[in-house]
Amino acid sequence: MTNGSTSAAVPAPPEPVTKQSFRDGMAKLAAAVSVVTSNGPGGLVGATVSAVCSLTDTPPTLIVCINRSSRSHAAIAKNQILSVNVLGGANQHVAHIFAGGTGAGPAERFEEVHCSVLATGAPVIDTAVVSFDCEIAQTTDFGTHTVFIARVLAMRMEQGSDGLVYFDRRYLSTGDATRVGVPVPLSLAYDLDWTR
Ligand SMILES: Cc1cc2nc3c(=O)[nH]c(=O)nc-3n(C[C@H](O)[C@H](O)[C@H](O)COP(=O)(O)O)c2cc1C
Repeated sequence: MTNGSTSAAVPAPPEPVTKQSFRDGMAKLAAAVSVVTSNGPGGLVGATVSAVCSLTDTPPTLIVCINRSSRSHAAIAKNQILSVNVLGGANQHVAHIFAGGTGAGPAERFEEVHCSVLATGAPVIDTAVVSFDCEIAQTTDFGTHTVFIARVLAMRMEQGSDGLVYFDRRYLSTGDATRVGVPVPLSLAYDLDWTR
């Protein structure tokens, strides 16, 4: 706006968001890696997942999104229980196995990990950084996935382990990451229940 010229540039129309461009964008969303397990009349299953987040701390509740075409989906829906096992930096091989990377079937995947049970009977992986043992409170189907709203009945936590992150289609240990921030004091850490 120096000489009153009105030669306004016409913005290029935005690129359409395709399935691939969306996936490429989501590859830049660093995500914690967990294994969701379930057991019961629907069978023993476990799958690597990144679509997990907290919903509310009162009652303690998680959201877990599972593809309806997976074997895990059918079993979780029937068993009505699941456990979310958040993997540590040393557990990349576990993530690979439970993502189907070795071709192992649902029960076979468990031959590679030691498990216990807490409240519901869903297997809890002993080397997980933290495990949340849940009953399904509600479900919502959208597109290819089901959103499971899972109420946490029991949990187990390890001290001092690094986390496992998936970023740019690669696994990273938080122990390898450069520390870029200052620790957030617990009193200032964000409130889990952002609906208030
Ligand atoms: C890093 C990573 C994250 C994943 N996140 C999810 C997820 O959030 N939900 C999902 O349904 N599948 C996810 N998957 C794919 C499942 O792990 C994969 O489809 C698995 O083989 C399902 O096994 P199943 O058919 O025996 O249930 C993810 C895979 C990887 C490698």
